Formats: sequence, structure tokens, C-alpha cells
Amino acid sequence: MVDKALGGAGLRGQVAGETALCTVGKSGSGLTYCGYDISELADKVEFEEVSYLLSRGELPNQSQLDEYKAKLKTLRGLPAALKSVLESIPKSAHPMDVMRTGCSMLGNLEMETDFNDANDHIDRMVAVFPSIICYWYRFSHDGVRIDVETNDDSIGAHFLHLLHDKAPSELFAKVMNVSLILYAEHEFNASTFTARVCASTLSDVHSCVTGAIGSLRGPLHGGANEAAMEMIENFTSADQAEEALMGMLERKEKIMGFGHAIYRESDPRNVIIKKWSELLAKEVGDDVLYPVSVRCEEVMWREKKLFCNADFFHASAYHFMGIPTALFTPIFVMSRVTGWTAHVKEQRANNRIIRPSADYTGPEAREVPPISAR
Ligand SMILES: CC(C)(COP(=O)(O)OP(=O)(O)OC[C@H]1O[C@@H](n2cnc3c(N)ncnc32)[C@H](O)[C@@H]1OP(=O)(O)O)[C@@H](O)C(=O)NCCC(=O)NCCS
Repeated sequence: MVDKALGGAGLRGQVAGETALCTVGKSGSGLTYCGYDISELADKVEFEEVSYLLSRGELPNQSQLDEYKAKLKTLRGLPAALKSVLESIPKSAHPMDVMRTGCSMLGNLEMETDFNDANDHIDRMVAVFPSIICYWYRFSHDGVRIDVETNDDSIGAHFLHLLHDKAPSELFAKVMNVSLILYAEHEFNASTFTARVCASTLSDVHSCVTGAIGSLRGPLHGGANEAAMEMIENFTSADQAEEALMGMLERKEKIMGFGHAIYRESDPRNVIIKKWSELLAKEVGDDVLYPVSVRCEEVMWREKKLFCNADFFHASAYHFMGIPTALFTPIFVMSRVTGWTAHVKEQRANNRIIRPSADYTGPEAREVPPISAR
């Protein structure tokens, strides 16, 4: 029987394996990567250092970081066959489907054969994902074939440069850096679990990540930042947001960007991205979206004791940086690929195929009637 006391459906609260990569809702502020608290990481390091930590197990020293970043820069280019696939995907496609196809195509062109050392493939995905999404976006929307091999110092700056055709401000590059750190890893969430299940069959790393992208796409998971944006952009003032939200709650609608499967009182990533969203609002002269977002947060806590998760203030932060809403979740992919692939390696290192059981709720055993009698 599904154990209701343990959270019942959704496997809530049930331990499904071990990890040395991350704790959620346990120590410090509530989120740690390899023992480091998320608030310290977001404050003190670059996303590339977190990516190195997850793929190599320790933070890099300066020369290791320099070497790693130099390597990632050389891996930004797109093979001609991948460009051709991206050019054939229509403008109307969902950008997460573009990411899924791009990752899958990469696996065809650069197949993983040696499963003992996945890091070259992982580094390649970390470096090339911004190129994949921006190449398709700019080709399908602006009709241009962009050069994806920029010399930008960071992955976040590379992404914004490709998207906007100009190098970003220091502030925008910094916020992207923080955002990518916040989204990098989160224990056995739905997309990571997808990647681990796939890895447990001894499949290749591109298949694991392609499957994970599919799981992340849904609005109950990564898609929540886009859904939150679609909601808040309809509100013209904080008062109007409150009125509309009260109506939504009365109609028992789900409010995207709020609540969490593990955290009970707050999401430690929210306080960090909220601070940056406020700074960006000042920078771009916003006096609607940020106050609207703050009022939503107040109303949801007052009415439902529901708090903002990582996605809610990401919506306004990304918007202030001129990022189209449809590209919000692909940014999540650009970051979470580091966590997914770390889990793939961890699963492979101590593998047994993941194969749970189900309680049967169907009909009693019966005979197949002849087709004329059905
Ligand atoms: C994240 C989420 C899927 C977790 O689901 P969960 O573990 O089933 O949530 P909980 O057990 O905490 O839900 C408790 C109650 O609060 C309600 N609730 C949770 N999140 C809610 C939200 N965002 N808006 C309105 N009601 C919500 C649930 O419907 C449930 O009500 P019920 O007991 O009457 O059924 C859920 O909070 C959600 O759908 N949030 C919006 C999507 C989102 O932001 N996802 C990103 C997650 S990082």
C-alpha cells in the first residue's frame, strides 16, 4: 500500500536513495551544495565555481578555475548539423522543446562512449546550452545566424550577450551569476530523479539530461517562473494584484511561484533573488512589477501561509534584464544541468536499476472475450 503516513502519493517524504551533493530543508539556511550553504555560495563565488564543485567534488583554486573557464569558452561553438536542426525548429516552438531537441541532437553528434569519465561531455553541455537556445531564438525571431563563440567571462554574460547582441552590464552579469547558482542543484526533485532513473539503466548522459529537461518543462516544476511572470504582468498596481489574487484563492486556483514540496516556511533561495530583483527594479526604474510581486508575497502568506519559492522573484528579475518570458525555464536548464549530471555520475558510481513497485487498483483477473462479444 502507498504509505499515507509517509506522505502517500507523490512519494512525498520517502527516502529514495543517497546523495552527497545536496541537502534540502535540513541545515544552515535550508539548502547546501556539497556542504556549502547556498547564501554563502550566492554571495562569494561564481557559477563556474559551483559547476566545478558539482562535477569535481571540491571548489577550484584560482588556477583550476582559470583553466576550467578557459576550457568552457572553447566549448561554446555549435556543430553545423546542430545549427541546421535548430534552424528547422519553428518560431512557435516551446523553447524547452528546443533545449530538449538540442541536447538530444548533441548526443547524436558527440556520443558518450566512455562512461568512466563523463566530465568532457558535461563541460560541453554546460558551455553550449546558452548557444543552443540563443542561436535558435535569434534565428527564428530575428532571422540572423549569430556567432555564438563570444569571449564573455561567464556563462551568464555569454547568454545575455547572445540574446541582446551586446555585452551585459556588470549588474546584469552578476544577477545571472547568482541566479544560475541558486538553480544549480536541489537533491531528488522531479527532473533530477528523472535523470537518475535514466542513469540507473546505464543509459548515456545526453539521454539522462534530455529526459530531465522534459520533466523540468512542466509548470509545477521549472515552468513555474514563466507562469508567475504571466500572472504578475497582468497586474497594474499592488492593490489590483491583491484584489485579483484574493479572487484566485477564492476560486481555489494554484498560484505559481508559491509553495514547495519540501520547504515548509520559506525557500532560502527566495530572499536572495528577491534582493537582486529589488536592485534591478531600481536600476531599470520599475515602480509596478516589484511592488506587485511584494504584495503577492504578503497576501499569500497572510491568507494561506504560502511563501515564495525560488521561481517567484526570478520572474521579475529576469524581466528587468530584458529576458523574454519564454526563455526563463531554459535558463533553469543552463544551470540545473550541473546538478543533473552530478547525480548521473553519483548514480553510476553506486548503481542498481531504480525500479519501484505499484499497488494494483485495476479489475480482478478475467478472461479475454472474443471480439464479437465485446
Ligand atoms: C510546489 C508544489 C507542486 C508542491 O506541491 P505539494 O507538495 O503537493 O504542496 P503541499 O502539500 O504543500 O500543499 C498543501 C496545500 O496547499 C495548496 N497549495 C500548495 N501550493 C499552492 C499554490 N502555489 N497556490 C495555491 N495553493 C497551493 C495545495 O493545493 C494543498 O492544498 P490542499 O491540502 O487543499 O490540497 C505546489 O506548492 C505548487 O503547485 N506550487 C505552484 C507551482 C510552483 O511554484 N512550482 C515550483 C516549485 S519550486
